[in-house]
Amino acid sequence: MIDYDSFLSRAGRKMQQSEIRKMGTVLAEARDVVSFAPGYPDPALFPWADLRAITADLLSGDRGDALQYGPTRGDRALREVITGILAKRGVEASPDDLLVTTGSQQGLDLVARILLDPDDVVLVELPSYTGAITAFRNVQAELVGVRQEADGIDLDDLDAVTARLRAAGRRVRALYVVPNFQNPTGLLIGRDKRVRLLEWAARHDALILEDDPYCELYFEDGAGPGDIRPIKADDRDGRVIYLSSFSKTLAPGFRVAWLTAPAPLAARVEVAKQAADLCTGALDQHIVYEACRRGVLERQAPRLRRHYQHKRDVMERALKETLGDVVSWPAPRGGFFLWVALPAQVDADAMLKRALAHGVIYVAGSAFFVDGRGKNVLRLSFSAPSPERIVDGVSRLAGAVREEIAAAQAVG
Ligand SMILES: Cc1ncc(COP(=O)(O)O)c(C=O)c1O
Repeated sequence: MIDYDSFLSRAGRKMQQSEIRKMGTVLAEARDVVSFAPGYPDPALFPWADLRAITADLLSGDRGDALQYGPTRGDRALREVITGILAKRGVEASPDDLLVTTGSQQGLDLVARILLDPDDVVLVELPSYTGAITAFRNVQAELVGVRQEADGIDLDDLDAVTARLRAAGRRVRALYVVPNFQNPTGLLIGRDKRVRLLEWAARHDALILEDDPYCELYFEDGAGPGDIRPIKADDRDGRVIYLSSFSKTLAPGFRVAWLTAPAPLAARVEVAKQAADLCTGALDQHIVYEACRRGVLERQAPRLRRHYQHKRDVMERALKETLGDVVSWPAPRGGFFLWVALPAQVDADAMLKRALAHGVIYVAGSAFFVDGRGKNVLRLSFSAPSPERIVDGVSRLAGAVREEIAAAQAVG
């Protein structure tokens, strides 16, 4: 028997599977399960007809570049379109400071590679997006958590954590945040706080990694343009690396996303990307470019907002009706997620088995915490299941929660 573990690098040994991907495996193996686990967009909303027409044109045979290698930074025309998207968000960027990445996940991975040595400190919110946690852990960074409050990251705790680390001789390299409809909580970072985060970064000579895939998915009764203005929009000093994606607005299967960073950092990311994949898929980039040029993306946005807002309403109503006396959640004003606090005696990890037996899955809150907390909370995605399945799934979840409470009472 070959001991393959002995071949692994230290980093390779430490890599951990994403909890959310793991749930995907559970789902694949189980029948009739309502999945509230992964934050998948609803495929019914993919603009199928437009994409068929675009793809047929691109594959007509006279567009060699549609299937050719391209520049590592990404197709020039697409980068120009992206600068237009950014300008609407208030972010000024040049196509030269912008890289098209294979999903934002690759952006996070590459940024981690160029910025972080083993044991370097990155601050993340409690809770924070698991994909970012994984990318930072893969380069063996030390992740330190900062508490949240109703309007996002708690700035007092941020100062306290930074001061504590400094006193211990540790430099904070970067703070990672998802300011708009955060994954997993759905929270928005308050307007004023965004500016104060920039001040914090200047004061401590740190960078901000701003991950913003959900900003277009605000709900009518929720957030206005002023509420979702990226931190990057006011970044005069060049402290922010900003990432965003077409995954939630067009389709995640294209794996087309981007990051914009101060020029010297963008240049380093480009070098790192050369080793990772030479360039993002050419056909994907061309399809996305055409979808932007032909107005498909622009037409999509209001549809998506209405659709996901409706699903949020359906899920909130179902939860109130079935579990309103025992659970609570912050009302999301956009995005894909409900962050549900359970009674103290219910452990979301332990309850998963029971939930699966009832035919429903979610992601247990602990997956999003770097400090071992999050036992009594879970994330529900309302984005992919149909409204009928949402109602059915919440009723199944309610069955599991009630049983879990009864079981805890019997033991107690
Ligand atoms: C906060 C956040 N960042 C990044 C990603 C990854 O997106 P992409 O599909 O562009 O890799 C996701 C996907 O769920 C996300 O929620």
